[in-house]
Amino acid sequence: MSVTSANKNQALQARREAAVPRGLGIQMPVFAAKAENAEITDVEGKRYIDFAGGIAVLNTGHLHPKVKAAVTAQLENFSHTCIQVMPYEGYIRLAERLNDIVPTRGPRKTIFVTTGAEAIENAVKIARAHTGRSGVIAFSGAFHGRTLMGMALTGKVVPYKVGFGAMPSDVYHLPFPVTYHGKEVEQTLEALEVMFRADVDPKRIAAMIIEPVQGEGGFYIAQKELLQGIRRICDEHGIVMIIDEVQTGFARTGKMFAIEHSGVEPDIMTMAKSLAGGFPLSAVTGKAEIMDAPGPGGLGGTYGGNPLSCAAANAVLDVIEEENLCARADEIGELFVNRIKQLQDTNSLKGIIGDIRALGAMVAMELVSGGNADSPDPDLAKALVKRAGEKGLVLLSCGVRGNVIRFLVPLTASDALINEGMDILGECLRECVADRAA
Ligand SMILES: Cc1ncc(COP(=O)(O)O)c(C=O)c1O
Repeated sequence: MSVTSANKNQALQARREAAVPRGLGIQMPVFAAKAENAEITDVEGKRYIDFAGGIAVLNTGHLHPKVKAAVTAQLENFSHTCIQVMPYEGYIRLAERLNDIVPTRGPRKTIFVTTGAEAIENAVKIARAHTGRSGVIAFSGAFHGRTLMGMALTGKVVPYKVGFGAMPSDVYHLPFPVTYHGKEVEQTLEALEVMFRADVDPKRIAAMIIEPVQGEGGFYIAQKELLQGIRRICDEHGIVMIIDEVQTGFARTGKMFAIEHSGVEPDIMTMAKSLAGGFPLSAVTGKAEIMDAPGPGGLGGTYGGNPLSCAAANAVLDVIEEENLCARADEIGELFVNRIKQLQDTNSLKGIIGDIRALGAMVAMELVSGGNADSPDPDLAKALVKRAGEKGLVLLSCGVRGNVIRFLVPLTASDALINEGMDILGECLRECVADRAA
């Protein structure tokens, strides 16, 4: 095929199909050329409004000028020494800052690695070293990454576990309570008691891990009573409570960390995504006595806490504070909820938006048939994401049943841009529903 400016995407798509395995699912058949704040331009010059933020990575927007300046300045000095060989101040400063802001009392320590899944792996290793136990309890619908332990902890089989053989042992799942689906907190806490009687001695459990708002699972908010119940049970049995803030962290929910809404103090917290504004970095922060359990050399990695990523993250923390992004997240959340409610009340869309959920700017709408929570409509979610992409809106779905649309727009986006995106979304939703009726 001769490549012209009009078919660059198509030509790249053909190359990607030939060069990259299908296991890497790619949502849009278009290729990015440039991005700024909450807008992306593809290789054919088409503009997109970004409601996905690189899957929760860009709370401070694409290439925030302060993040860009910090990384550029670091690049003038050095890009890598390996922290285990010759350390640098940016890493230590960032660790000190995270130690200060995680909502846990007493001395804290932080180690940096590279991806969310790697943070999870390390959190589990640290909890095991601290307790001398091996068991880990997670939740149905949870997502903790694609490494072996991350995959084992993830509470969804398709597509994450299919074909990948035996999972690491000593991992248990509890049902995640969702009132909208008729599953209450007491049922989960009862299931835990049954688990401790029927399946595993609590004295064998090293850690319990939970997302304060399930991300990939469908933006289901963990209720305060659940988080408090887990805290109590962890205290009772000497279990390490790990809070996975990989998707919820860094102002997304209207607070620096979503766990702050519950008042619960985690023992260990995992962070990634918006920590470094588009640069690969993840962190494990926890109580010092727990974090110090593994011996020297037991933790680390060649690229963990890369100097460019640490420079970016130090700038991200400044931007969140200077631009008051926690308060902005609440405003954005309200704007989305109002716009979604208008769609929910539109005559031609009656019964389609079953539930609207929001914690700050972590907003989702659940698509169903006939207003029935038990009739998920993943086909509509799929069609909507596709149609939105064609009309210049990058949208994400999620959910164990594939029927949730989630909104992760950068917190630096203007109201005008969000409204423009929501106009496109409304148009697409009406068209998808009309197409189906035709
Ligand atoms: C809550 C949570 N934990 C862990 C991960 C894994 O992060 P990564 O994809 O960077 O390995 C994700 C990714 O979506 C996540 O949302």
